[in-house]
Amino acid sequence: MIVTVNRKGHFNAAHRLYNNEWSGDRNQDVFGKCANPHFHGHNYELIVSVTGGINPRTGFVMDMKLLKDLIKEKIEDEFDHKNLNVQIPEFKELNPTSENISVVIWNKLRPHIPEKLQLEITLFETARNFVIYRGE
Ligand code: NI
Repeated sequence: MIVTVNRKGHFNAAHRLYNNEWSGDRNQDVFGKCANPHFHGHNYELIVSVTGGINPRTGFVMDMKLLKDLIKEKIEDEFDHKNLNVQIPEFKELNPTSENISVVIWNKLRPHIPEKLQLEITLFETARNFVIYRGE
């Protein structure tokens, strides 16, 4: 029996999307409001999903307390109320789109999740826009 367990997380963060090689107008065309040079914030909603077999000794796929603590320590404490472009080293050269943020989150959590379990990140930038990254 393969089961997916999910834990929600949340952080508020500021970002700006832009490409240094493009003019201000082109950045505005491609990234819209997210190109605002003065930054702006999003209320990011996160779902961390872990898939695997049920451990017969515990009845768990993974201890949810451990997952909760990992999300808090590795993601929420790092990203909440931060300017992603300025304060998070991974985004010094990488545009902090939802796509790239989900990859960075996956990379931060993966070493702490047992290897035999699959990890999937779902990240909502708005209530209607969300991305999924499965490490592929
Ligand atoms: Ni934005």
